[in-house]
Amino acid sequence: MGQSVAVVGLQWGDEGKARVIDFLTEHSDYVVRFQGGANAGHTVVANGEKHVFHLIPSGVLHEGVNCLIGPGVVLDPWSFKEEVEHIKGTIADIEKRIVISSGCHLVMPYHRALDGVYESLKGDAKLGTTGRGIGPCYSDRALRHGIRVATLMDPESLRGQLETVLPIQNAILTKVGGVEAIDLEQLLSDLHEIGEWIRPFVGDVPDTINSGIDRGRSVLFEGAQSVMLDIDYGTYPFVTSSNSSMTGLFAGCGVNPSKVQETWGVTKAYCTRVGEGPFPTELLGEDGEELRTKGGEFGATTGRPRRCGWIDIPALRYAIESSAITCLAVTKLDVLTGYENIQVCTGYKGASHRIYHMAPHRIGEVEPIYETLPGWTEDLGDVRRFEDLPANAQALIRKIESSSGVPVKLITTGASREQSIIL
Ligand code: IMO
Ligand code: MG
Repeated sequence: MGQSVAVVGLQWGDEGKARVIDFLTEHSDYVVRFQGGANAGHTVVANGEKHVFHLIPSGVLHEGVNCLIGPGVVLDPWSFKEEVEHIKGTIADIEKRIVISSGCHLVMPYHRALDGVYESLKGDAKLGTTGRGIGPCYSDRALRHGIRVATLMDPESLRGQLETVLPIQNAILTKVGGVEAIDLEQLLSDLHEIGEWIRPFVGDVPDTINSGIDRGRSVLFEGAQSVMLDIDYGTYPFVTSSNSSMTGLFAGCGVNPSKVQETWGVTKAYCTRVGEGPFPTELLGEDGEELRTKGGEFGATTGRPRRCGWIDIPALRYAIESSAITCLAVTKLDVLTGYENIQVCTGYKGASHRIYHMAPHRIGEVEPIYETLPGWTEDLGDVRRFEDLPANAQALIRKIESSSGVPVKLITTGASREQSIIL
């Protein structure tokens, strides 16, 4: 009997989900992306080589695993092609290994342009998006004038739909954004070319998953972004445009919740955020710089420096509860080596009492209360067993476990696959 497992981020993205996916893929037949788009930056270091995936599920490096992109994903076909070209040499029969749902909405060149227009018009109120056209593409889906992969496969309806939609996009681009219009014939010709290239990858993803599960296959669901960036359950408006918590799984690939047995949540041993928005435990100035340097905290998609701070337990608990997390992976524990003291935010200061529960709409107003844990100086890179971790590192993990109420099953202590501790 196959086992279905989901992996989601519990902070503001970049938790190291791909590491956990890579680790769990060994036991999977399918790895599925169900939301988000090329805003994701999933890094795996395998055999000394670094791979960054944006759209292709991170399990692709494992032979014999099929990678599926569900209809909840917004697909930039050019970005997808670039990624495939990049790994083609390493992976045989790549067209047979990756399936894209015909239901995926396409991220068009005008979505990317609009992403920039909205950000610049908002000025100081900008979100700090990845600029990948994610928001405008999901908006068009909701407005019901998005264009899907199925339409890309059908040149006649593609022309018809673009004849309606492109003038609307161009009016916004030129009149509101003051940028150049996009030429219909050029766009159709570019889409025709990429459409033919993509055709061998297109299939029925929900049916593949559901019938696979019925036949006893194991499926791994790879979340992108995180609970705190979820459009409904995150720190709105400083979020992404999809349901990037567990809530997105069922809409994003048509799989019944009862079919998922285990839900892994991923958290760093500290916390980072890229883009704008509240971050109660953020370290500013030199302290932030120190953690950023130690952790190599620069965006995998945009290269932006990430904001860094201490782990936030009330926020973590909120994320765990709202996504029904059953176990944790704690990543980058090695980065905390060398700190004399490590701060763990265990609550927030309220007007009259301590607050232990995070309400996402109020997170901008809270002030963290820290518990100080003693640090360690030993390098963790070669540690493979929990018992061999310095006592203070063990204590930090036990603290995360006891205060979050969920067992830690995996700890990472370095960038390569081997630097993992399984509990
Ligand atoms: P992975 O999957 C970190 C952030 C952006 C911005 C906000 C909205 O690698 O964890 P968007 O481009 O989605 O409209 O941007 O969300 N963001 C991420 N931050 N990791 C990601 O993905 C992210 N995807 C989006 O920085 O604040
Ligand atoms: Mg990222």
